[in-house]
Amino acid sequence: MGKGEGFGKVILFNEHFVVYGLPAIASAIGARTTALVDRSSGSGVELKDERPETPGYKAEKFEQQNESLDIMLKFMKIDTEHNHYTITLGGDLLAASGVGASAASCAAIARAFSDVLKLNYTDERVNEVAYEGEKGYHGNPSGIDNTAATFGGLIWYRREGSSQLMERMRLRQPVEIVMGNTGKVADTKLVVGGVKERKERDPEKFDHIFKIADTLVRDARKQLDTFDLKKVGASMNQNHALLQEIGVSSPELDALVDLARNNGALGAKLTGTGRGGYMVALTPGRELQGRVAKEIGRKGFQALSTTIGI
Ligand code: MEV
Repeated sequence: MGKGEGFGKVILFNEHFVVYGLPAIASAIGARTTALVDRSSGSGVELKDERPETPGYKAEKFEQQNESLDIMLKFMKIDTEHNHYTITLGGDLLAASGVGASAASCAAIARAFSDVLKLNYTDERVNEVAYEGEKGYHGNPSGIDNTAATFGGLIWYRREGSSQLMERMRLRQPVEIVMGNTGKVADTKLVVGGVKERKERDPEKFDHIFKIADTLVRDARKQLDTFDLKKVGASMNQNHALLQEIGVSSPELDALVDLARNNGALGAKLTGTGRGGYMVALTPGRELQGRVAKEIGRKGFQALSTTIGI
């Protein structure tokens, strides 16, 4: 039996912009996906998905998940003709949009195969496999999700052509956040495609927004380095406004963002693909975190209380 795991993630700055080579900032969160791989005689692969989920997520991602698995098995050159493999996914990361669920499962599967077949994969190799796997979920991943899922921690990420550039960032101390789940499943391929279409239709408007996003993320990096959380929160709010302008928010996300801000969060924004999935609020201190999470729960949404910069 081989075992592996991948971190869930939250994108703090510049999802979508990162697809076009702008820097972004992401952090692992304290929830993971685990994979177990069992080899037996026979042939073929069976995937048992025992992850907790947002209702409908697994059914909606079923085909993409199979495509992703196929790509990864080929990339790792796994012989499924003379061996039968059973893959079991589990862990405490909700299978949902916005938390890097697909990337976490890809990293976990790569690690579990490496373990069962004694392939001695380095983290870099796991990341390469997980990146290929992400292509099954959406054609043109920036690579930020698999990088965060594989390496964990707080990262500054940028893609340059086919290279993926990651730098580790450090926070003076871990900071509490609350993530609010809209309960809606988003299709990353469609949402990323929508941004591309709108960008092509109105290049001037998008160039302007992209310039602001570029400056914003560089300022946010300095604010995180100096632990100026008020400014980080304000930058998150500005980032949300830019994401609204490129058309990836939704009424539920905007409502959750407002709710978090009105209850004292230093800043809040959608995180990940958008159009559903999660919002993230910066809520330093257990008391503030508890208050925001409680209000989200009172409005009938699911809240995930966790920390960044672990
Ligand atoms: C999805 O978690 C993040 C996006 O920026 C897509 C990507 O980076 O590949 C929307």
